[in-house]
Amino acid sequence: MNQAPFLLSALDSKHNRNDFKSSSEALNHYLKHQVNQDIRRRVAGCFVAIHQDQRIAGYYTLASASVRLSDLPSSIGKKLPRYPSIPAVRMGRLAIDQEFEGKGLGSALLADALAKAASSEIAAFALIVDTKDTQAARFYLHHGFIALPDSPLTLFLALATLKTFKNDTQKIK
Ligand SMILES: CC(C)(COP(=O)(O)OP(=O)(O)OC[C@H]1O[C@@H](n2cnc3c(N)ncnc32)[C@H](O)[C@@H]1OP(=O)(O)O)[C@@H](O)C(=O)NCCC(=O)NCCS
Repeated sequence: MNQAPFLLSALDSKHNRNDFKSSSEALNHYLKHQVNQDIRRRVAGCFVAIHQDQRIAGYYTLASASVRLSDLPSSIGKKLPRYPSIPAVRMGRLAIDQEFEGKGLGSALLADALAKAASSEIAAFALIVDTKDTQAARFYLHHGFIALPDSPLTLFLALATLKTFKNDTQKIK
């Protein structure tokens, strides 16, 4: 029997977005008022972790992206082909409802996003994230992400290195 406390699915109209309350007002507002439009326009996909009581406990978004080769650390860039930009997947947003913070769900959703990016038939070099502040950036550094040298709030994890990532997806099914 799968005892994962959260069910992961793509956001759809049956999910109640109004009660979601993370510590970031901007991320709460995005889920309530903007994400549907982004999904309709195919500029983002949104995945939600649903608690047993049907509440949204956390969400993240994914979209195609690219990163300029010259923005990567030179030690990594020099091992890549000399294209002006390198394909990537952007996790635009990640937020956990305050009631569920500190229980491993953020790590589980990050692990799921990495797994999706790494298993897509459309190749991407890395998962990249644009964080809102240094505290959020520390969450990704904690998980092995590397900051872009000239943009420390943008971080990436090369998908080929995923075998070293601590996989926490057992929290969700
Ligand atoms: C940041 C956030 C996603 C973390 O989610 P969470 O479910 O509380 O985190 P987890 O319980 O999965 O934490 C997993 C690990 O990361 C660590 N961690 C959590 N937040 C951290 C932070 N800001 N800095 C450094 N480490 C952090 C935990 O200590 C834990 O470490 P361990 O595995 O060694 O014990 C959540 O707090 C949140 O939604 N914050 C508001 C929105 C936000 O800042 N989003 C970030 C993207 S912009």
